Amino acid sequence: MNARAARNIVILTGAGISAESGLGTFRDKGGIWDKFDWQKLATPEAFAADPESVHAFYNARRDNLLAAEPNDAHRALAALELIWQAEERGSFLLVTQNIDDLHARGGSNAVLHMHGELLKSRCNHCSHLFEHEHAITPDSPCPSCGRAGGLRPHVVWFGEMPLGLDTIYEALSACGLFVAIGTSGTVYPAAGFVTEAKAAGAWTVELSLEPGEVSTLFDERHYGPATKIVPDWAGRV
Ligand code: APR
Repeated sequence: MNARAARNIVILTGAGISAESGLGTFRDKGGIWDKFDWQKLATPEAFAADPESVHAFYNARRDNLLAAEPNDAHRALAALELIWQAEERGSFLLVTQNIDDLHARGGSNAVLHMHGELLKSRCNHCSHLFEHEHAITPDSPCPSCGRAGGLRPHVVWFGEMPLGLDTIYEALSACGLFVAIGTSGTVYPAAGFVTEAKAAGAWTVELSLEPGEVSTLFDERHYGPATKIVPDWAGRV
């Protein structure tokens, strides 16, 4: 079956799509988890033990993000979304594991951030969720309830439940085309989405720099830098 016959599309992206925008990946050589210990910076226990260091880690990544720009791969997916809707080909869902806002800044509309968003924080006291670009510290007061000591990044840490899973599994159960872009396929549940899509009869495509952990499950695979292979693929689908 070729992709054009697809009705509904689900796209999953990972850190690799933002690599050429200057944002680090996690498991490549020299990646974020080579430089930093995720057990000390990306778990609820780490935040409870040392909120200062966790805030500093995300404040630095937020500053990097503010200096970054979307790349041709982000823009190609935004253009594809418009075509999919204009030609009424079916539903279009872009699920990202990334906490950057480069898909939105690149023009995408239907973005589901399953691991949260770096430019948002929330209050553990009053649950207020808000967008911000400035640094947050343990003393920062909540803009809603005014209390300090309760703000945390709106980011899904290891051991926490990803966001939007009901929406994602519903879309996967009815999708005709599933595309994984720039992800190593090492972290579940995202790494299992290809299996869900195949069970629904979808055509499955992997676009990445090199094969990931679940590459053999995909019907079609293209390797290279996202800014080259994503526009090439999107132009043919
Ligand atoms: N173009 C395309 N793909 C690339 C590029 C590039 N320029 N550079 C790297 N890649 C690919 C790598 O080959 C790898 O398969 O991107 C993938 C990055 O894998 P990871 O670093 O493991 O990132 P990701 O798969 O998004 O991690 C998933 O793990 O730590 C958690 O919450 C974090 O969302 C993250 C999740």
